[in-house]
Amino acid sequence: MNPRRYALITGASSGIGAAMARLAVSNGCDVGLVARRADRLEALADELRASDARAGVFMADLSQAGAAQKLAGEVSASGARVDILVNNAGATVTKGFAGTALAEQIAFLELTVVTPAALAHAFLPNMLARSWGRIINVSSIAALSSGAKGNTLYPAGKSFLLKFSQSLNAEVKARGVHVTAVLPGFVSTEFQAANNIPMEGGGATRRFSQTPEEVAQEAWARNEKGHEIVVPGGPPKLAAAFMRFLPETWMRALTRAAAEKYYVGE
Ligand SMILES: NC(=O)c1ccc[n+]([C@@H]2O[C@H](COP(=O)([O-])OP(=O)(O)OC[C@H]3O[C@@H](n4cnc5c(N)ncnc54)[C@H](OP(=O)(O)O)[C@@H]3O)[C@@H](O)[C@H]2O)c1
Repeated sequence: MNPRRYALITGASSGIGAAMARLAVSNGCDVGLVARRADRLEALADELRASDARAGVFMADLSQAGAAQKLAGEVSASGARVDILVNNAGATVTKGFAGTALAEQIAFLELTVVTPAALAHAFLPNMLARSWGRIINVSSIAALSSGAKGNTLYPAGKSFLLKFSQSLNAEVKARGVHVTAVLPGFVSTEFQAANNIPMEGGGATRRFSQTPEEVAQEAWARNEKGHEIVVPGGPPKLAAAFMRFLPETWMRALTRAAAEKYYVGE
């Protein structure tokens, strides 16, 4: 009998990451759960162990320099062999770029850019050696936008995840490792509250929102089929098609008008 697959999921303490962890277990995997809030991770691990899965907890602040290497060491020391990596942990810096400390912007880049690349680099050799692996990088539909005031590095960071996923998939797909960038639209999670994003003007956006379970399911299923870019849900797919094919000047005007209501200033 095949040993159970092991999925390491970052940002598993809430939202899309927690949904991914439940989905991984329902697909017969053991899981490693990563985030800062240990109490949330322990509660989820207890829930998942009741389904006879092995669930490990790794408390880590992935916005710190060197966090990915430290985490990879801890995962290896636990005896786990990562088959599936879900780079999902994420946050944003809502305020304007000039008015925030450089350390805050660098922490954003560590979390969004450096950590996912370093974790993929750490676990890829074993996946390639076994000719089987799955990497899911949770980007955002913002990767396709022209950017706007506030959240200044967010579209750039999420674009990095999109392009990184594509290049890596080109490199390793034929060797059994599927790499997928997931570009959700609005998802009902703790993300807005956790990042102080004002939601008063977000009525229309929220009407088309998805649940984290819907995002996780489409991402998981289409990664398995080898899809390189996944925009989960109907309305976000339509929005993504517009964003790809509209002239840049139109896109810019639309993106910036839409983002204005979320801008919190310096
Ligand atoms: N919600 C949306 O509308 C939306 C849309 C597009 C893309 N996304 C992306 O989806 C991903 C998941 O977000 P979500 O919507 O599920 O939001 P969420 O409920 O706020 O979850 C974010 C997760 O990331 C973890 N995290 C944040 N900072 C971290 C850090 N420094 N170190 C370790 N873990 C950290 C959080 O855990 P702790 O706080 O316990 O550390 C939490 O588990 C993010 O990458 C986000 O950019 C979300």
